[in-house]
Amino acid sequence: MSDLAQALASLEAGGQADLAAAPDAAALDAVRVRYLGRKGSLATILRGLGDLDPAERPAAGKLANDVKQRLEAAFQARRDALEAAAQAARERADRLDVTLPGRPRPVGRLHPSTQVLRRICQIWADMGFQVYRSPDVETDEMNFELLNIPAYHPARDMWDTFYTTSEGILLRTHTSPGQIRVMRERCPEPIRVILPGMCYRYEQITARSEIQFHQVEGLAVGRHVTMTDLKGTLISFAHRMFGAERKVRFRASYFPFTEPSAEMDVECGICGGSGCAICKHSGWLEILGCGMVHPRVLENGGYDPAAFSGFAFGMGPERITMLRHRIEDIRYFWTNDLRFLEQF
Ligand code: PHE
Repeated sequence: MSDLAQALASLEAGGQADLAAAPDAAALDAVRVRYLGRKGSLATILRGLGDLDPAERPAAGKLANDVKQRLEAAFQARRDALEAAAQAARERADRLDVTLPGRPRPVGRLHPSTQVLRRICQIWADMGFQVYRSPDVETDEMNFELLNIPAYHPARDMWDTFYTTSEGILLRTHTSPGQIRVMRERCPEPIRVILPGMCYRYEQITARSEIQFHQVEGLAVGRHVTMTDLKGTLISFAHRMFGAERKVRFRASYFPFTEPSAEMDVECGICGGSGCAICKHSGWLEILGCGMVHPRVLENGGYDPAAFSGFAFGMGPERITMLRHRIEDIRYFWTNDLRFLEQF
């Protein structure tokens, strides 16, 4: 009997020590199997009870049973403790600090050219000009011939052209071919439109030139449209775009599709007209070409030049943006460098 009691006592002590040392649920389970499993040490002792004197069996059985119960309770307690610790560790690991400020998302913005294009379109819309879209891929006829620039004419040298491998198909060198398209569509109605869009020129790329750039063309056709209308409208545009105090001037110029033709300058906003590197010390910056629509062009659009007249202009928004923000190189617009784009 005392042998058995001693065996049970040492089994219990060993079990308690081992379960207390089990670092996790898996190790704990292994200890449990070792002590309380069907082939565990307690089962071995219990099997030995059969050899005891029948009179001693009940007391011995009770003793063994008590040990089993205490060990089972201890295993359960240890299992609960390990589970609680694991849960606490999990909670520590993915704890959220809800008081932390949020991470700001980078906010996108419009391309500087788009911003200026929209501003330009808005000003012209205020003056009653509709936006008219015309294609980037044009025919030689629209881009040149119908604008009074025959193939032999030296004025073709004003535009270095991207020709395609399809005969007579090219990338438009300016938005002016859109003039013919609007006139043919609207004739004989009066016209007041702007034509914003991309143009392409086969040029050596330098800080001042690109192979692609925007233009905003304008066209007004009606029965009594005069040079006065052209000047008044463009001056009004310049004042809205650059401020009412900004001086403007017109210089006589030449375009095959307008007669008379002019170029409009605005006072240099950087030096205020006194002369600087940006305006090449003239005090003026050229922003657009313009003129009265040539009678032959009106005719090509379907209008009778004896009854109708019109004015047209073409401006480069990238140029205007460069002047506004003192951007030194037009190539920045399409290189997609965020360090440039994020400044606007
Ligand atoms: N198309 C001309 C250019 O690209 C600009 C222009 C448009 C001039 C309309 C007069 C009238 O240079």
